[in-house]
Amino acid sequence: MAPNVLSRTIRMSRCLTVATALLTLVALKAYIEWTAEEDERFPSPRWAAWPSSSVTPLQPSTNALPPFVLQNFNASIQQLRQSIPRAKAYWNDKQHRLFQALEQGVEHNTSWNQCSGPGSEERVSRIQDFDSYSELYKNFVLYDSCRNFPLLINQPGKCSGGTNRTFLLLAIKSLPGNFAARQSVRDTWGREGAPGGLAVRTVFLLGTGLGRYGPRLQRLVEYESRMSRDILMWDFEDTFFNLTLKDYLFLSWTLEHCPDVQYILKGDDDVFINTPKVLDYLRSLEAHKPLYTGQVMANASPFRVRKSKYYVPESYYVGPYPAYAGGGGYIFSGPLTRWLHHISQHVAFYPIDDVYTGLCFQALGIQPEAHPGFQTFDIAEKDREDPCVHSKLLLVHRRSPEQTLRLWKQITNPDLKC
Ligand SMILES: *[C@@H]1O[C@H](CO)[C@@H](O)[C@H](O)[C@H]1NC(C)=O
Ligand SMILES: *[C@@H]1O[C@H](CO)[C@@H](O)[C@H](O)[C@H]1NC(C)=O
Ligand SMILES: *[C@@H]1O[C@H](CO)[C@@H](O)[C@H](O)[C@H]1NC(C)=O
Ligand SMILES: *[C@@H]1O[C@H](CO)[C@@H](O)[C@H](O)[C@H]1NC(C)=O
Repeated sequence: MAPNVLSRTIRMSRCLTVATALLTLVALKAYIEWTAEEDERFPSPRWAAWPSSSVTPLQPSTNALPPFVLQNFNASIQQLRQSIPRAKAYWNDKQHRLFQALEQGVEHNTSWNQCSGPGSEERVSRIQDFDSYSELYKNFVLYDSCRNFPLLINQPGKCSGGTNRTFLLLAIKSLPGNFAARQSVRDTWGREGAPGGLAVRTVFLLGTGLGRYGPRLQRLVEYESRMSRDILMWDFEDTFFNLTLKDYLFLSWTLEHCPDVQYILKGDDDVFINTPKVLDYLRSLEAHKPLYTGQVMANASPFRVRKSKYYVPESYYVGPYPAYAGGGGYIFSGPLTRWLHHISQHVAFYPIDDVYTGLCFQALGIQPEAHPGFQTFDIAEKDREDPCVHSKLLLVHRRSPEQTLRLWKQITNPDLKC
């Protein structure tokens, strides 16, 4: 009997391993599909004029109610308000209620904007075809006002080590299981240091594994964090639709732990970044000009193809998207963090994180600036292994850990002739 039981156990555990591997693959596939942007590309808009005001952008009011928004950003808020159609669609309706609350100067603590409780039923009842929503979408709607999740792994001293202010913070969205991607980033373009006296620091942004079906990676990630001291992990499920939440929590973290950072590069863990070139570019800028740059998606609108990763139901949102920088990787000025965090209290979470960031920037009156060095849809196939091409780019998506290591070695080789 014993061998039989044993072989059954082995079979079962094999089954489990296969199931786990399959789930990991499904998650990976979802992630890969998500990062392969499908929006159309258009030429870039320019900077909108920074609203003239007596309050300097570096010191916004920290009061709960934002007089600075009312006084200085009224115009850009109004503009955003006008660009979002008043419609029955769930997000449109929710956002217009937020605008109204802002205008009336009242705190929006009404049931339609509560994290849990009776509000969620009311929310659901306002979407007629809610039953036809995917599980992920349903969860997004149910939790879209929940913004407080504790940090499980923190790096409180990340920006206070060393004598110099952090010049560039690389904030890299990763998933718990992406160990190899993170290690290749650490060993290449994400290596911390102070080239030319400009302090570069790196954090990886993680949620927890995927619910009860995901493999338990918590202990491994904790171990990794003790070795590398660059992991931030929050206690929420790291799904595609929780990336907006991840962005928001990162802004909160930055305000608390890295408030003086000069520039932030938010990107995926499978991009290739030419960090020396990024530093050259940032060094060449006027220090106080607000920056939001990357590969700009202009005139984009919601995807209505049901099986697309980016599918947005008509009953959820109608209208155009603001111009936004593709989420594969973009850069913005650190001092804008406080403003983004502030304004995001008045912009309802949207399931697609880079669109959400674009909405917040638009509410601040800041247009994304296109930079041709950002190639979040990758480059011509023949150039994908070419170090000379990569030495001229700032950021390209997507490279495997092996490609990243090889390319980095090549572009940092002083003997490279192009
Ligand atoms: C903001 O703009 C709205 C509409 O243009 C206007 O009614 C309101 O008085 C303005 N508020 C402030 C503080 O200027
Ligand atoms: C806002 O919250 C307060 C205290 O929790 C409550 O008394 C009040 O009814 C709420 N207002 C609305 C409009 O829900
Ligand atoms: C700080 O910056 C100066 C010059 O700006 C540089 O020489 C020095 O190496 C930097 N120190 C650290 C610890 O980054
Ligand atoms: C986001 O995370 C929360 C907390 O873990 C979870 O309850 C929710 O279902 C997640 N949302 C989505 C859309 O996955």
